[in-house]
Amino acid sequence: MPAPVRILTGITTSGTPHLGNYAGAIRPAIAASREAGTESFYFLADYHALIKVQDPALVQRSTLEIAATWLACGLDPDRVWFYRQSDIPEIPELTWLLTCVAGKGLLNRAHAYKAAVDANAAQGEDADAGVTAGLYMYPVLMAADILAFKAHKVPVGRDQIQHIEMARDFAARFNHTYGEHLVLPEAVIEEQVATLPGLDGRKMSKSYGNTIPLFAPSAQLKKLIAGILTDSRAPGEPKDPDTAHLFTLYRAFASDGQAAEMHAALRGGLAWGEAKQALFELLDGQLAAMREKYELLMAKPADIETTLQAGAAKARAIATPLLRDLRAAVGLRPLTAQRVSAQGIEGGGTSDKGAVRKLPSFKQYRESDGRFYFKLLHADGRVLLQSTGHASPKDAGSLIAKLKAEADALVNEPGKGLHFAGTLVGRLGDGVELAEVVEVLAS
Ligand code: TRP
Repeated sequence: MPAPVRILTGITTSGTPHLGNYAGAIRPAIAASREAGTESFYFLADYHALIKVQDPALVQRSTLEIAATWLACGLDPDRVWFYRQSDIPEIPELTWLLTCVAGKGLLNRAHAYKAAVDANAAQGEDADAGVTAGLYMYPVLMAADILAFKAHKVPVGRDQIQHIEMARDFAARFNHTYGEHLVLPEAVIEEQVATLPGLDGRKMSKSYGNTIPLFAPSAQLKKLIAGILTDSRAPGEPKDPDTAHLFTLYRAFASDGQAAEMHAALRGGLAWGEAKQALFELLDGQLAAMREKYELLMAKPADIETTLQAGAAKARAIATPLLRDLRAAVGLRPLTAQRVSAQGIEGGGTSDKGAVRKLPSFKQYRESDGRFYFKLLHADGRVLLQSTGHASPKDAGSLIAKLKAEADALVNEPGKGLHFAGTLVGRLGDGVELAEVVEVLAS
C-alpha cells in the first residue's frame, strides 16, 4: 500500500460558520476525509484568530461553534486528526525555528500585510500604523501549522496560495541549513467548489455582513432567505436563473434534477416568493438533522473539550518527535549529545549537519533484590522505559527481543503500567509518550 497522503487545513476561529463556509469548505473537506489512502488533519486555528479578534469571549465562542459544526456535519474524530492549534505547543515552538530562517523581505510581500500598508499609504498614514507584528508574522505561524505535521497537501482558497508558497520557501531554507527534515507542502485549489453569494449578492462573507448562519433556527432561516436580493420581476414574468443569486444558492444544495426543474420554473415565471419558499424547504430539509446534532453538541462543551484533548494527544504524537529532532538539528540539545568534529567545531556540509548520531540503547543490570532489569535509554539520556524484574538475564533479553519485534503490541494503561501480550513489563519514563517508545523500538 502506498504511504497515505496527508491533507491538512486550518479554520480560523473568528466567527460563526455560515452557508458559504459549509458549501465551500466544510462539506468538501468532510467528503475528502472519507477517501481511502488519505490522512486528514483539520484544526481550529485559534492562534490565528488573535490576529483579527481581540475579544476573548468571541474567540472562545467561535471555537466552540466551529468545533460543534464540523462534528455535527459528520467529521469523524476517530478517523481524522481534529484538534485546536493552541493545544499543540510544538506549533509556536516551530514558528520560532522558522522565523529564524524566514526572509524578512518575503514577509514584506505577503498580501495581507501589503494590503494594510497600502491602505495606510492611501490615507496618508505611517506605513505600519495599526499593523501588529502578528499580522506580519502570520505566514510563519501558518507554515508551522503545516510543517509540524509533514502535510503533503493543503486545500485552500486562492487568497491563501501565497502562504503555501511561503511555507515551501521556509521549509526549503530550513532543510538547506539543517538537513532534510521538513516536507514541502503543495496547495490544492478546489476549482469546482461552490462560492456562494450572500443576501446582497456579493460573496457570502462575514466582512460584508451578508451571511446566512449555517445553523440558524428554522424561523430565522426562513426570514433571512426572504431577504435575499432579487430583481423586481413580477410573478408570471420569466426570470433569468443564471443571473439570480437565489438560484446559485439553490443549485449548491440541490440535486442536478432539482436544479434543472427550478431553472425551468424560473424561466417559466415562478414567483420569487415561491422560489424562496422552495430554497427554504431544500435547506431546512438538508440541515435539520445536523442542526439538531449541533444544538446537542453546543449544550455540552465539556464533551467537545474532551474530543479536542484526545485530538491534541493524537496530533502531538506526530509533532512532539518531529520537534525533538528539529531542536537537536538546530543545536538546541543536551550538552551530552553535542557533536564535535575533528576540528573541535560542528562539521560543515548539509548532508547530516546537526544530526545526533547516537542511538537509543538498552541497559541491563541486576538490582539488590537479585532480579534482572533493563532500561531503554534515549540518545539524549532520558529513560524511555523501565522494566520490571526478571529471574534471569536471559528472560530479560528475550523480552527485549520480543519488544523490538512487536513494538506495536505495547499498551500503556495509565496507573497500571506498560503491558505486552497481557503481562506487565514495566513503565514509561517520566513525561514519555508511548508513541515515542514504540517508534524507538521499531526503528
Ligand atoms: N489562514 C487560513 C485562512 O485564513 C487558516 C489557516 C491557518 C490555515 N493555518 C492554516 C489553512 C494551515 C491551511 C493550513 O483561511
